[in-house]
Amino acid sequence: MTSNLEAQLLALRQSGEKAIAAADTLEHLEELRVNYLGKKGELGALLRSMGQMSAEERPKIGAIANTVKESLQTSLDQQRAALESAQIQLQLEAETLDVTMPGIYSPQGRIHPLNGIIDRTLDIFVGMGYTVAQGPEMETDYYNFEALNTPPDHPARDMQDTFYLPDGNLLRTHTSSVQIRYMEREEPPIRVVAPGRVYRRDNVDATHSAVFHQIELLAIDEGLTFTDLKGTIKVFLQAIFGDLPIRFRASYFPFTEPSAEVDLQWNGRWLEVMGCGMVDPNVLKSVGYDPEIYTGFAAGFGVERFAMVLHQIDDIRRLYASDLRFLQQF
Ligand code: DAH
Repeated sequence: MTSNLEAQLLALRQSGEKAIAAADTLEHLEELRVNYLGKKGELGALLRSMGQMSAEERPKIGAIANTVKESLQTSLDQQRAALESAQIQLQLEAETLDVTMPGIYSPQGRIHPLNGIIDRTLDIFVGMGYTVAQGPEMETDYYNFEALNTPPDHPARDMQDTFYLPDGNLLRTHTSSVQIRYMEREEPPIRVVAPGRVYRRDNVDATHSAVFHQIELLAIDEGLTFTDLKGTIKVFLQAIFGDLPIRFRASYFPFTEPSAEVDLQWNGRWLEVMGCGMVDPNVLKSVGYDPEIYTGFAAGFGVERFAMVLHQIDDIRRLYASDLRFLQQF
């Protein structure tokens, strides 16, 4: 009886260890644990038959059963550790990044040259304390001309061929209209930069477009002078174009007095890049500012022209063609 049970226990150990060593998944290993050592397992079944043993035999068999149990438990632990580390190894291998594999191409977006000029300009002026403002593209005659010291019979209206709408409104010919709208709703001191789309009845060619973009500047305060205007424009132009010579050439605009055009020396040639001047007292009066207290300067320029000079673009139409071969250069 005793030796029979002892032999059964030893056989159990042998078959158990063999099965455990052969287990190739953690699930399988867990099944084996339940099979051998679980409450209803094989070891338990053998031990239950110990009840029929004599008092001398019981401790001996009990001791053997304990070593069998311990050695099976040790085998289970070792196999579990081995399987777990194999699993981690597999995972590591599966997640290895092969840096020699070809990448997945994702085309990179670009900033359109016009947006590039607008972004940089706004950055520069916001850095000088200016506020960004916008106005409507459909305007009244008043905001586009009249309040800007350009009455109906004024010859300067011929400078800008205007798209008139059937209802008597128009498409703004310049962003200068934003000056009036902004001053009407704000009080001095004013520092404002206003980008936007403008419209002119121009025949489209390499340097003209019926729709283009301008950026307007306006500063109103007590004691602003032409020197402030020059300094501001110079800082701005040099931030965009680099440290190039610039000059102010006397000119005429209805809404500024005195007025000037700004030229930039670019590749050895003087290029006209913007208009500017001291805000005409009539303009200040039209928004209810007292020209005896306030002075100011204004300026405006074409974004397309800046982009064409800066990037040596030979035809304005390239800026609107959405040709990726062109756009990918920026
Ligand atoms: N509005 C003018 C144009 O479209 C540009 C301009 C000139 C704007 C002088 C100004 C300025 O603010 O002071 O040609």
